[in-house]
Amino acid sequence: MNKILFINGPNLNLLSLREPNVYGSHTLKDIELKVKEQAALAQVTVDFRQSNSEGDLVTWIQNARNEFQVLVINAAAYTHTSIAIRDAIAAVGIPAIEIHLSNVHAREEFRHRSMMAAVCKGVISGFGPHSYLLGLQAAISLINKS
Ligand code: DQA
Repeated sequence: MNKILFINGPNLNLLSLREPNVYGSHTLKDIELKVKEQAALAQVTVDFRQSNSEGDLVTWIQNARNEFQVLVINAAAYTHTSIAIRDAIAAVGIPAIEIHLSNVHAREEFRHRSMMAAVCKGVISGFGPHSYLLGLQAAISLINKS
């Protein structure tokens, strides 16, 4: 069965408590359950992880080699700062999709720049928890094309 790795960065463990006006009232667990429900229907396996540490994200991307067909990544604030995450994506060569709950382009200027977008297949931003389901769909379509 094809496997997709969802990676979540810092502060996403606080979803529902954290700025609900921006990020909504769903917990990350709610989103994970929804993604896994849709993945099961599409007969793909999803591994869903979160860490506040940049190094964990880099290690997970590196270790995804030979196990996962696609990465779906909400690197949260590291999106805007992390050359290490960008380099890890480029190094492993697994197709990656960048996702965000909020529309980063409608927010502060420092969120307009992504260090990783150029090494991703595409970017999904602004659809709340639905961004994750769109990320799943995009991942499945990449698998079906390969
Ligand atoms: C975010 C957007 C980032 O700018 C922010 O730092 C986050 C969450 C989003 O999902 O909208 O932590 O990635």
